[in-house]
Order: sequence, then C-alpha cells, then structure tokens
Amino acid sequence: MKIAPSILSADFGRLNEEIASVEKFCDWVHVDVMDGHFVPNITIGAPVVKCIKTSLVKDVHLMIDSPEKYIEDFAKAGTNYLTVHFEACPNLKEVLDIIRKNGMKVGVSVKPGTPIDVLKEFLDELDLVLVMSVEPGFGGQKFMESALGKISWLRDAGFKGEISVDGGINAETGPACVKAGASVLVAGNYIFGAEDREQAIRKLGR
Ligand code: DX5
Ligand code: ZN
Repeated sequence: MKIAPSILSADFGRLNEEIASVEKFCDWVHVDVMDGHFVPNITIGAPVVKCIKTSLVKDVHLMIDSPEKYIEDFAKAGTNYLTVHFEACPNLKEVLDIIRKNGMKVGVSVKPGTPIDVLKEFLDELDLVLVMSVEPGFGGQKFMESALGKISWLRDAGFKGEISVDGGINAETGPACVKAGASVLVAGNYIFGAEDREQAIRKLGR
C-alpha cells in the first residue's frame, strides 16, 4: 500500500519543506488542481507542480473542466500520474490517449455520486482509478462509506491497476479502504494537520 499526502492541507508558502517533512514515510505526493468551475475552489497549476522538488512520485489530480488543454503542461512539469475526472470528459477515450502520448500514467476519478461501472469500458486503459470519498473541492471532509463498495467493485471487475482513495482518510477509514482493495491512500488534513506526522502516517498501516 502506498501513502500519498495531499498538499492541499500543507502550507503552500513552504511547500518543499512541507513535502520534505513527510518524504521519508510516503511514496507519492498528491497535488489537487482546481479551477473554480468543475469544483467551487481554486488552487494551483502546472508551474507549481514544476517547482516541487521531491523524490516522491508526482500524482496530480485534475479537478478542472477541459483537462485536455493542460495535459502537455503537466507532463513538462514532471507529473508521473495524471488523473482527470470522468464527469469533466465527454471525450474520455481521447483525453486518456493524450495523457499516454505525453508519457504519463493514466488515471480517472469519479465523484461520489457517479456510479463506478461507468468506467467498465475503460478499465483496460487505466493505470489508476481514483475513488473520491468526499465531494471534490475541499480538504477536511468526512469519509463517505460508499467508496468502499466502489473499490471492491473495481477489484471484482478484475482491475489490476492502482486504486487510490481520496477524502476523509484517517487511521480508521484508511485501513478499511485497503481491506476493500485500495492500493494508494491519499490523505491531506490527517497528515499535515497531525502534531506528529510520522506517527499519523504509520497509523495508516505502514
Ligand atoms: C479534495 C481533494 C483531496 C483532499 C483530501 O477535493 O481531492 O485530495 O486534499 O483532503 P482530506 O484528506 O483532508 O479529506
Ligand atoms: Zn485529490
């Protein structure tokens, strides 16, 4: 199981120091990109991803409309996994192909209200499915149990790629997701808000 701290809950003014504080205990760094249209919040874009200096895998979660416009920028910024939202891509297959052509691993995310079986026809083309366990847009929300059924569905459907779960992950919900079949735990508030970040990460099951 991999741990991906979400920098949404970090101090953006000291981003590289914040990431360095958890680097030894984690595998990926999760970057939430929001455009104020697809979600009611605005965060950061490719220039900031480029400035992140880390040995961790850069896992970028695009919560934006028309993500195809920015794929090349994120590739140039050193993104390893690029995840787009199913709900933002009427032309999903094309978008996935562009991500692949730009040399990145391909991810798709679904909001809590979107049934997971919409991804059935795309599973063979995905390296990662990101199951949202809160409404995308903000950190610090409560985990929605419906995510567990989606994770199990993906494993039952034979999906062998990474299953990442994002939103409300903590020492209780994280292990439950791993039990259901998740391989990546994204956690923002739980890690960056902890007094002892190493201890908090270990409690996720490390
Ligand atoms: C929410 C983001 C998450 C967020 C999770 O839209 O996609 O990555 O940072 O935050 P926590 O772990 O605080 O629920
Ligand atoms: Zn995220």
